[in-house]
Amino acid sequence: MSIKKAGLLALASLLAASFSAGAKTVLITGANSGIGLEFARAYAAKGWDVIATHRRDQTPESLADLAREYPNVVPEKMDITDHAQVDALAARLKGRPIDLVINNAGLLSENVERQILGNIDYDLFERYLRTNTLGAVKVTEAFTENLVAAKGKVMAMSTDMASITVDDPRRGFYFYFTSKAALNMVMKRIAKELADRGVVTGLIHPGFVRARGAPRVDPPPGWPEMVDMDVTIASMIELIDSWQLADTGQFRKYDGSTMPW
Ligand SMILES: NC(=O)c1ccc[n+]([C@@H]2O[C@H](COP(=O)([O-])OP(=O)(O)OC[C@H]3O[C@@H](n4cnc5c(N)ncnc54)[C@H](OP(=O)(O)O)[C@@H]3O)[C@@H](O)[C@H]2O)c1
Repeated sequence: MSIKKAGLLALASLLAASFSAGAKTVLITGANSGIGLEFARAYAAKGWDVIATHRRDQTPESLADLAREYPNVVPEKMDITDHAQVDALAARLKGRPIDLVINNAGLLSENVERQILGNIDYDLFERYLRTNTLGAVKVTEAFTENLVAAKGKVMAMSTDMASITVDDPRRGFYFYFTSKAALNMVMKRIAKELADRGVVTGLIHPGFVRARGAPRVDPPPGWPEMVDMDVTIASMIELIDSWQLADTGQFRKYDGSTMPW
């Protein structure tokens, strides 16, 4: 056997050893920070096998620490805008049932001054769409067979800012609002195809959470109340758990209430 093949086999058995037989599996995008990291921690603590994906060249410290604490967490590199990377991870996980995919990775409030009429940065606009909309579609498409094998669920982190029917008083943020409204529409469409194959689809507004993408200080007047990270994570896990095929394609708040489209 060649040294390269022996090395690959050793790596494969190391990966398999990190996962426990019979445990459920969740794949989370953007798992190195904020909501994604706390989802990874919470599912790991519940005994799930966690495929915690990130886009960095080196495993981020946050995920290295989590994997040290929980051997059922395996960090994997996957930039969701790099389709070759998404396909490569899907190829490595081929045949493995995945109970839950959380499309969490997203761009939130980058260069907000370039998201307003008179100063629009169209390249940045495209990057938002490639990440927040197309990225979630690509991940869902690439891992469809894994989800079908588990009769699993695919959830996407949406936002109240995606609601077109709500006259949101916040100005600007064109790219974020638009890319998440498009995410809602495309996941609602995808939900029908996936339901035919036994897979549940959902869109969740996690609330306004203190994470890197949201202010660490108190929000300005007119902005929504902030929710604690542990409250929203626990509520979302309960919500995801209760989500059935009859509810597929719905848009809900972390507490289970219906969000306006
Ligand atoms: N926080 C809130 O109040 C709030 C409210 C509503 C909705 N959400 C949604 O919740 C999700 C998580 O937000 P957060 O507040 O936890 O933000 P965050 O801390 O900024 O986390 C975003 C994550 O997405 C990753 N990411 C960005 N682009 C990526 C790409 N191309 N490929 C892979 N990963 C990528 C980031 O990686 P890097 O660390 O490498 O940048 C980071 O891990 C987002 O979808 C957001 O829209 C958040």
